[in-house]
Amino acid sequence: MKRVGIVGWRGMVGSVLMDRMRAEDDFSVFEPVFFSTSNAGGPAPPQARGERVLKDAFDVASLAGCDVVLTAQGGDYTSKVFPQLRGSGWQGHWIDAASTLRMNSDAVIILDPVNRGVIDRGLEQGIRNWIGGNCTVSCMLMGVGALYKAGLVEWMSTQTYQAASGGGAQHMRELVAQFGTLHAEVRDLLGDPQSAILEIDRRVLARQRNLSADETAQFGVPLGGSLIPWIDKDLGNGMSREEWKGMAETNKILGRGEGFGTRPVPVDGFCVRVGAMRCHSQALTFKLSRAVPPAEIEAMIAADNAWVNVVPNTREATLRDLTPVAVTGTLTIPVGRIRTLAMGPEYVGCFTIGDQLLWGAAEPLRRMLRILL
Ligand code: HSE
Repeated sequence: MKRVGIVGWRGMVGSVLMDRMRAEDDFSVFEPVFFSTSNAGGPAPPQARGERVLKDAFDVASLAGCDVVLTAQGGDYTSKVFPQLRGSGWQGHWIDAASTLRMNSDAVIILDPVNRGVIDRGLEQGIRNWIGGNCTVSCMLMGVGALYKAGLVEWMSTQTYQAASGGGAQHMRELVAQFGTLHAEVRDLLGDPQSAILEIDRRVLARQRNLSADETAQFGVPLGGSLIPWIDKDLGNGMSREEWKGMAETNKILGRGEGFGTRPVPVDGFCVRVGAMRCHSQALTFKLSRAVPPAEIEAMIAADNAWVNVVPNTREATLRDLTPVAVTGTLTIPVGRIRTLAMGPEYVGCFTIGDQLLWGAAEPLRRMLRILL
């Protein structure tokens, strides 16, 4: 049985990954070896069979004893350990949730329901680095990949509504704490049906503007009752790094653009953090290469994969099925609000949502492990 080293299994993405691997009985098809960056020598989780003690995640020799290393530990860990491990001559497969290696020419971004062909070609070429995509891009392609596969997309513009979880576990805690703080500020007024809404608004705003550095340590500014139209680093050219990833990763996942000898599909827009917990949502605008009626687009999207769910473009269906609250914790990728836009028959809009910890992070990793094994 192949030995699979698992690193970062206790963090947020790692915990979701462990849940999914248990649910799919993945542990029965390999021998798991659990690593820790902080508790080497401690007890491994119950899935461990041969190796019941946690190994040191910085011990290159122990890692090199694995056929596959799967990590959800984060970019700093990858930057430190991956070069040492490869430098030691290790020829195993590295599966990683972090963005560090994503754009390297010897790495494939994994999203097999969308790019199984690219993965298979990579395997034939001897690729051994398999990196999960940016959560927003992965969720988007799970929803509307059919339009790209059909060669219909001339360009796409995306406006995102990204959840707190994209920042990490501490960011989610901060958001919920802010909601609580703001509520506490006006609890008495809310309890009085005669109270003035503008007084409630004034007090909430005053509290938001007075949140302490500790209360905004993760996001830097209030997110509860507000939004932040910038995610990730400032690239210095007017773009955020999250926005840059949209085009770079979409094309790489699809096996297009630079490195594949084809013209990349332009993808651009604005990435915005909102007060959702763990679902990323996106409003998409497509310029198609020809006019396609919405019903045909719906049929193409619905037929693309087992997880996509076309939501009828009605108020009732949208409120029921097309919200972060409806989608969280599921592998379903709803695509709704599909309609031709006023700009012309080849302009189509839609709205899609995905749980950024599932299809956006954990699921492509465990599926890649299954493909390798
Ligand atoms: N960069 C994403 C976000 C997280 O901040 O929402 C995962 O790719």
